[in-house]
Amino acid sequence: MERKLPKDFYWGGSVSSFQTEGHRNEGGKGLCVYDVRPMNPEFSDWNDAIDEYTRYDEDIALMKGMGFNFYRFSICWSRIIPNGTLDEPVNEEGVKFYSDLIDKLLAAGIEPMITLVHFDMPYHLVKEYNGFASRYVVDCFERFAKVCFERYKDKVEYWLTFNEINCIDFSGWVAAGIPNQNPQTIADAAKNQLIASAKSVITLHNINPNNKVGNMIGYGIKYPNTCHPNDILKTWEEANEDYFYCDVQARGYYPRYKLKEYERNGVVFSLNDKEKEILKSGTVDFISFSYYMSNCISADPKVAPNQSGNMSFGVKNPYLKASAWGWQIDPKGLRIALNYLYDRYQKPLMVVENGLGAQDEVDENNKIHDTYRIDYLRDHILAMEEAVRIDGVELWGYTSWGCIDLVSASTGEMHKRYGFVYVNYQDDCSGNGERIRKDSFYWYKKVISSQGRDLK
Ligand code: BG6
Repeated sequence: MERKLPKDFYWGGSVSSFQTEGHRNEGGKGLCVYDVRPMNPEFSDWNDAIDEYTRYDEDIALMKGMGFNFYRFSICWSRIIPNGTLDEPVNEEGVKFYSDLIDKLLAAGIEPMITLVHFDMPYHLVKEYNGFASRYVVDCFERFAKVCFERYKDKVEYWLTFNEINCIDFSGWVAAGIPNQNPQTIADAAKNQLIASAKSVITLHNINPNNKVGNMIGYGIKYPNTCHPNDILKTWEEANEDYFYCDVQARGYYPRYKLKEYERNGVVFSLNDKEKEILKSGTVDFISFSYYMSNCISADPKVAPNQSGNMSFGVKNPYLKASAWGWQIDPKGLRIALNYLYDRYQKPLMVVENGLGAQDEVDENNKIHDTYRIDYLRDHILAMEEAVRIDGVELWGYTSWGCIDLVSASTGEMHKRYGFVYVNYQDDCSGNGERIRKDSFYWYKKVISSQGRDLK
């Protein structure tokens, strides 16, 4: 049997601005949401991150060393427009920073993919306007997106609008800058972000019809805990929380189950003809998603919830192992996820985040033997290959998360490491920032050069 991923498959890694750049008050940058996020004082506050702002040269060389042909990073909105507003000048220093970074990637033969907003909108828009709860912020985002598209249009073909847009449902302040999680606020922010996203798709296509824009959802696929119809129904309801955003972005209209839910919950919602037209014309070219784990859903209140992990929910799946952070490891779930998404939308897919957060030890020879990470990634790449070869899913690429160690988004920990490259910074920000290739670095290099055939 010959393993088969497309010849022009994109292999690479993925990072975000606030988890890597550091230097938050430099280069004319304004404050972003993460700069003021209250954190456990023992952990990083993202002020230094991994110092990518000054070290990207060295890091791109490492990515090139692994044979990457693709790299996903995000632009920090407040580096481009410090307060994010409509009338302030564009920060040319910020524009130049990303322009130089893109040039370096291209010179290394690596295609850039840009996420416009990865959880780090300008704090000013949050403080003064309640983030995406305000219609005004849609215009601000439109301006920001247009500036990026126009400045980088000749260099960047692949774009994503909002990272894990479905996080609004449980972490609205981070994902949309909203002040509370009440259903009306969430619905308003979701609508504004979906309109903003669709408008940016239209704008980018007008600037260059060959450019491609995708959406991005966090997709922790959900299984019913038993075959009891109550569990099946509950699972369907909860899965719709993830699908809702994707349904609008891929199909161009609000799904009936969401409209009925609003009606039941007394949420005031409407779309005028112009808004309907924007959603319809601004559908994405491809679907991208993060996949770390699966979740198990029970409708039975007597079944104990899975409280063993940060960010995981539902009940424990007895068939799966979990990471040290309680994320249940489920490679087969990735094959299922790819099939579910492809069947539902029939649009090309990209896995833009996947990986194992683990604590690594540097041994006396300055080596990191991260076989656990290699095992995790191998199994997920195999599952992805099966989805393509056996099931016929159209998959464009794979960018594993945190290809270089970075600060954890959910906890601020530095010791939750995902990278092929170790970064010598610790939770309390001590360390010299030295980069060390882990065993997984050499393994991934082999995977890429064999186009996914050699996974040993
Ligand atoms: C995704 C985010 O939800 O998960 C990333 O897009 C994040 O920003 C990643 O880092 C892993 O989560 P964590 O909490 O382990 O950093």
